Amino acid sequence: MRKFTIPFPDDWHLHLRDGATMAAVLPHTARRFARAIVMPNLNPPVTTTAQALAYRERILAALPKGIRFTPLMTLYLTEETTPEEIVRARKSGHIHAVKFYPAGATTNSAAGVRNIGNCYAVLETMATEGLPLLIHGEVTDPQVDIFDREKIFLEEVLAPLLTRLPQLKVVLEHITTRDAVDFVNNAGTNLAATITPHHLAMNRNAMLAGGIRPHHYCLPVLKRENHRAALLEAATSGSGRFFLGSDSAPHSRYRKESSCGCAGIYSAHAAIELYAELFEQAGALDRLADFSSRFGAEFYGLPRNTGTITLIKEPWDVPQQYSLGSGGALVPLRAGTRIRWQVCHD
Ligand code: DOR
Ligand code: ZN
Repeated sequence: MRKFTIPFPDDWHLHLRDGATMAAVLPHTARRFARAIVMPNLNPPVTTTAQALAYRERILAALPKGIRFTPLMTLYLTEETTPEEIVRARKSGHIHAVKFYPAGATTNSAAGVRNIGNCYAVLETMATEGLPLLIHGEVTDPQVDIFDREKIFLEEVLAPLLTRLPQLKVVLEHITTRDAVDFVNNAGTNLAATITPHHLAMNRNAMLAGGIRPHHYCLPVLKRENHRAALLEAATSGSGRFFLGSDSAPHSRYRKESSCGCAGIYSAHAAIELYAELFEQAGALDRLADFSSRFGAEFYGLPRNTGTITLIKEPWDVPQQYSLGSGGALVPLRAGTRIRWQVCHD
């Protein structure tokens, strides 16, 4: 196939940041996706409905002229979040989920949750209101090896949580292991998972073999080939439990190329094109539309997009970097390499 058309996709997990960085990265997503679930891990985090609505206005104001894009806002869960805030969020009509970061797990997670047991009243209200919980699924215990943190989270935190709250909709974000794929497949239909292009494309060799590659460092960290293969199988399986979430996470080159580099891989410049390459390599291009444009909307209970996007097999070269204005520059995924598919704008 040289050209194909799919319903406009949605990105169910995205970091847009704020200010100059947001202005630089937002056009990439808005040209490829009709909607995106916007992560609340700003500094300070987006913990209230009022903050989320103000952030939404800043996103809309930063959109390029003539481009329609709907930011789907989220709240950052803390142990101080109240059931009343959840009701307010739902009533706003613009907040579509609440994000659970275990405290210390990743970028700007210090204000996250130390003990999810302290959030049950809020989680019960979310279940009643039909507001999904989005989970960064890693334990933070320093005794636990970083490559095992997702697997242990499934056993120690997620399983008891789902037993206690069987009505709560949960998205396990950016899954990285065969264990997570199996866990989702064996759980009830209230559990789904997003899968990033980088975890589908790369194993940990891409980060550590032949030199340390900070632009391939993200959290949860890339795993063994066996896990990558399981993710690709899940994404292309046609199961509605797995859908697109790029986790595109911009950080400046300066903050990545450091003795203590930030976690995050930037993919918004080519997200749908990268998924197209991966699905094509797996012989499953016919399954991309459901993964990118249907399953997520169904899980969130939102209408499917009406417009379409066309991809054409015309190779293009990814720049070495994109400017972040006064914030420096960022190095995108596949910088300096050729991508086979591009979005057709005519
Ligand atoms: O690699 C990551 N980057 N993982 C996360 O969980 C957060 C994200 C970010 O905000 O940079
Ligand atoms: Zn993320």
